[in-house]
Amino acid sequence: MSYQTPRGTYDILPDESGKWQELEQIIRDQCRLYRYKEIRTPYFEDTSVFARKNDSSDMVNKEMYTFTMGTDSYTLRPEGTAGVIRAFDQHKLYGSMEMPARFYYMGAMFRHERPQKGRQRQFTQFGVENIGVKSPEIDAETIALGIDIVKAMGISSIKVSINTLGDDESRQAYRDALKAYFEPHIDTLCADCRRRIVQNPLRILDCKVDHDNPVVKDAPRLSDYLNEESKAYFERVLAALDAMGIAYEVDDRLVRGLDYYTHTVFEVISTHPESGSQATIFGGGRYDHLVDYFGGPQMSGIGFAIGMERLLILAGAEGHRAPEDDGTDVYVIGLGDVSAEVLKTAEEIRHAGFTAEANLMQRSLKSQFKSADRSRASYIVIMGEDEIRNGTVNVKNTKTKSQETIARNQLIDKLKEWNI
Ligand code: HAM
Repeated sequence: MSYQTPRGTYDILPDESGKWQELEQIIRDQCRLYRYKEIRTPYFEDTSVFARKNDSSDMVNKEMYTFTMGTDSYTLRPEGTAGVIRAFDQHKLYGSMEMPARFYYMGAMFRHERPQKGRQRQFTQFGVENIGVKSPEIDAETIALGIDIVKAMGISSIKVSINTLGDDESRQAYRDALKAYFEPHIDTLCADCRRRIVQNPLRILDCKVDHDNPVVKDAPRLSDYLNEESKAYFERVLAALDAMGIAYEVDDRLVRGLDYYTHTVFEVISTHPESGSQATIFGGGRYDHLVDYFGGPQMSGIGFAIGMERLLILAGAEGHRAPEDDGTDVYVIGLGDVSAEVLKTAEEIRHAGFTAEANLMQRSLKSQFKSADRSRASYIVIMGEDEIRNGTVNVKNTKTKSQETIARNQLIDKLKEWNI
């Protein structure tokens, strides 16, 4: 039998890890500029952290990896926001941190979805949460951070879609209107949407099955149910984006797939021809009720999460290349039974801060030189029994092809002098 990764998961092989490390570094650099600090929460939480009362999202109802241990039910995190807010409340960070509190996280998330390009069952998100201050300008600043990261990865074909779900009053008025509108058409809707009419009719607008159903297309628009306060808030978000020169499209059908959003919601979508069906690079929005849900005070927050696999696929499609491995500084070769000395020399080189590979296979000189070539060594140190006896080493500069014999105890100083 041959063993394989489970469906919807994948290995990142050494050839590919460079691009991940580059992305992680870009994320860390950008978060530092915006003064976000990293938070790391567990990969599984009590199921109740994600399955909150009467949640209507597909993520919670269909896609969670839930398991029981004894009488406890746990779930592999399908997203990062809930865990961050749980931690914010558990550690009473609302009392000790300067507001707004700014967090970022990176790591694996798990959703039992149908795998395809850009959609896995284990995937990696980078996300941020900005908690404690409700301000339209913060909404715009949060979007700007996400866009800066996408651009830093060389992705320029993007579209920012934005909408508002309004405050509680506006959303309730809209839900009532949708319910009244859809009820007479219930027979034309899919089985899930029939449940959604009762639980959360907003979800119908996001249904993949009923996407082209004319009944759904003609449904009342949320913008007609916004109260003045919600409209004014949204206008300020748009004005702040204008002030930063960030182009956007208002899409009043954008409701997002998760239940906790209030006011601003947004998605950044790739418009590159290769982006395929999974074109949403990141999505997020404001939430007014999560902090108090987990036992903290009434505080609003906003955040987004980027699918890092999608970002890397799109960066590649737009021609971005990760820096390649630049080879080893030094490759140490031994002639004869001198492996212990080769090893010791390589250790000294590493302790001086240079990268070094030691050939410990006692092969022919020719084959060791070939290996040094494949490792793209800048210098090759050659040690035979004679050299060891005389306290010398031969050093070859692979660029100039010149070779010289130097005292072994001078090797580190020489490497420093050559400035590799
Ligand atoms: P989300 O829209 O569910 O939001 O996911 C955010 C991003 O994660 C998506 O736009 C996509 O790039 C990526 N993603 C989601 N599912 C998959 C998958 N199965 N395979 C690959 N990539 C995927 C959230 O998760 C919210 N927590 C965002 C947020 C933070 N809202 C407020 N704060």
